[in-house]
Amino acid sequence: MLDPRGNPASTRSAAAINASERGLWRMMSFYGTPVADLDEAIAADPQWLLPRLMKAGFLLSLTEPSLVPEAQTLLDSADPLIAHANHRERDHLSALQTLASGDWQLACDEWQGVLQHHPRDAFALQCAHLFDFYRGDATQLRGRAQRALSHWDESEPLRPYVLGHLAFGLEECGQYAEAEDIGRQALAGEAKVPWAIHAVAHVMEMQGRFAEGSGWMAQWAPDWAEGNGFASHLGWHHALFALESLDHAAALHLFDDFLRADPAQITLNRVDAASLLWRLHLLGVDVGRRWQALAAGWQLSAGDAGFYAFNDLHALLALLGDGQIARAEAWERQVQAGAERSSGNNRETHRSLGAPLMRGMLAFAQGRFDEAVQHLGDVSGASQRFGGSHAQRDVIAQTLLAAAIRGSDSSVARRLLAERQRLKPGTPLTEHWTRQLGLRQASR
Ligand SMILES: [Fe+2]
Repeated sequence: MLDPRGNPASTRSAAAINASERGLWRMMSFYGTPVADLDEAIAADPQWLLPRLMKAGFLLSLTEPSLVPEAQTLLDSADPLIAHANHRERDHLSALQTLASGDWQLACDEWQGVLQHHPRDAFALQCAHLFDFYRGDATQLRGRAQRALSHWDESEPLRPYVLGHLAFGLEECGQYAEAEDIGRQALAGEAKVPWAIHAVAHVMEMQGRFAEGSGWMAQWAPDWAEGNGFASHLGWHHALFALESLDHAAALHLFDDFLRADPAQITLNRVDAASLLWRLHLLGVDVGRRWQALAAGWQLSAGDAGFYAFNDLHALLALLGDGQIARAEAWERQVQAGAERSSGNNRETHRSLGAPLMRGMLAFAQGRFDEAVQHLGDVSGASQRFGGSHAQRDVIAQTLLAAAIRGSDSSVARRLLAERQRLKPGTPLTEHWTRQLGLRQASR
């Protein structure tokens, strides 16, 4: 059979196709989780490999080391089904095996191979886009969707989600006007596309349009704030706009609505929680017991350390924010050991970026500001490869600026501040840092 976009599917069950399509829509829209739909597809045709692969891909896409064994079990169970699978499905299996082994870059390359033959393979686009994002690969975030879209008919129901990919990729490449235009196109129809809302929010964040951004998030709240797996991250974006205007109370209110520690919270949401609290901490805001709750709920085991440098750094921030310096130092050693044991891309990412960033944050938390400037400054120019978005990595830039203002060499602080003034001129947050530097210089 063919799926609705004309991709060959090795099943004769329309029920299985329909259920897998619902799962795919959930993966791209983040409404609910696709697990129940994919289980339904597996039950409808137990011989069809692809729904099992989609389930494994979804589990791996959460960047939780604890979910890798379940994903690996699904991939291992594929063996008896391979004989029934077509070329495209076997290529997906290979990409997912590569992903599960930790080589995220090669997995993305393998998905690109799938897309060369099947540019309307939405599962390949979705997986590669997320792992381009996790790897901080702006060029591919933009390029994969750009190359594929010419093959997508305007009437395809999933096309707005691919436009959302393109909008975010354009934004990460600094093409703000095009990103906003494509993002708004993605939202022009009936489809709820949180990823496109997100892409436009990123544009506004990067351009310091905080009041407009806050209005944007409120305007589109019906399409992201309820029942959506991306709501925490979008709530975090809404809070960033509040933070840019120095409305700390609003930022904390949004934290409580979208990021407050919950035992079921996934790590990606804890990452955003740590990132927001750390930014408030840099501003000297009292966040009450939120650090304690965040650190207490984050199950950090030595076995999971070193899986993904981006998440590991934010876990360190949670411990530092909670004042657990000794535990943070122990976590840094565990991450180091875990990354060295790993065979995937994360070993090199940790060595070149994660390790100095962790040392810089540890130094900052202990008041060794010149040392923090040295470690954070050494890698800030290359931090894109650390993963995540520009807006997420701004926590590094803001810590570096705060350290430089408090350190002994104010020329570094002036240079960093000039860069922030160029990017976000006149925002209350930029003015805050300008005042802080002035006060520091006056006291010398
Ligand atoms: Fe974002």
